[in-house]
Amino acid sequence: MQKKRVLSGVQPTGNLHIGNYLGAIRNWVESQAEYENFFCVVDLHAITGANYRHELAENTRRTAALYIACGIDPEVSTVFVQSHISAHAELAWLFNCITPLNWLERMIQFKEKALKQGENVNVGLLDYPVLMAADILLYQADLVPVGEDQKQHLELTRDIAIRINDQFGSKNQPIFKLPNPLIPKAGARVMSLTDGNSKMSKSDPSDMSRIHLLDTPDAIAKKIKKCKTDAERGLEFDNPNRPECHNLLSLYMILSAKNKEQVIAECQNLRGWGDFKPILIETINSSLQPIQAKYQEVINETGYLDQVLATGKEKASAIAFATLRSVKDAMGFLA
Ligand code: TYM
Repeated sequence: MQKKRVLSGVQPTGNLHIGNYLGAIRNWVESQAEYENFFCVVDLHAITGANYRHELAENTRRTAALYIACGIDPEVSTVFVQSHISAHAELAWLFNCITPLNWLERMIQFKEKALKQGENVNVGLLDYPVLMAADILLYQADLVPVGEDQKQHLELTRDIAIRINDQFGSKNQPIFKLPNPLIPKAGARVMSLTDGNSKMSKSDPSDMSRIHLLDTPDAIAKKIKKCKTDAERGLEFDNPNRPECHNLLSLYMILSAKNKEQVIAECQNLRGWGDFKPILIETINSSLQPIQAKYQEVINETGYLDQVLATGKEKASAIAFATLRSVKDAMGFLA
């Protein structure tokens, strides 16, 4: 039986954080053998934010190296850079011309990010989900493993696919498969360390709000020691009045590979944050240590990453340009 195809990506903006890892990359790794995988570094998406230019190339390399450091095996999965395959941008343009403007204006992430950009909102920010739809549909992906915040973009991707199929395909030969999101049960929405009601995010101005995958043990200890908690007695999950408590226990649960009952039982014997934080610090450090060691290996091996990305480009291009050709044929372009 043919394996289902998976596609996903992360923007190379700054350092990847533990939310990116738990919401996305860790799940790519876990199901790697089960599927046919395409993982791209979405650098074209990264330029919708500010201040990227001097770091774009370096961050793109770093993000690809982190995929491998987290456990993506380039022998099993195709790892590539979005801007290396011009079909992504070209398909996005074709989609632009069939996507109603009000579909994009409804996007929660656009509204949130546009508020932050103030007067300077670029068209790319609005168009971001159309490019994401192109990323996914170019590869006829069955599944897209992402965090909770990407659910609405996946719905838009399906709407675009349906529209293209309706307008240019035929009933028994749709142009695009409809992809499904793959959102993890735990870790789909890791919250900020400084505010348990907002998502951990690369764009938060405070570095203390997130744990980066490449943070040193000292930095991790400092961030957890200073992170926001509360003055309630005991530690518990699922109390809406204690979002920080739920978030920190969830982080511990996932990274220690324990279940909820085990964590609840363990916490009953603790006196409070003073007892819990050192355990959490130790757990985060021991989860990140092997990733950091592998990262150093990957980044220091001359030529290795370039070779992986060149091979990835070749494999991904073959599929991407074949899909693009078939869409252009269906839309009536001169061959
Ligand atoms: P980006 O770079 O913002 O996020 C990358 C992945 O990390 C997940 N994520 C989180 N998960 C849990 N808790 C958090 N606090 C958290 N923050 C981020 C995101 O859900 C995402 O899975 N638009 C995408 C990039 C993209 C893409 C694609 C993804 C472009 N084209 C095609 C899949 C398929 C994004 O949010 O990137």
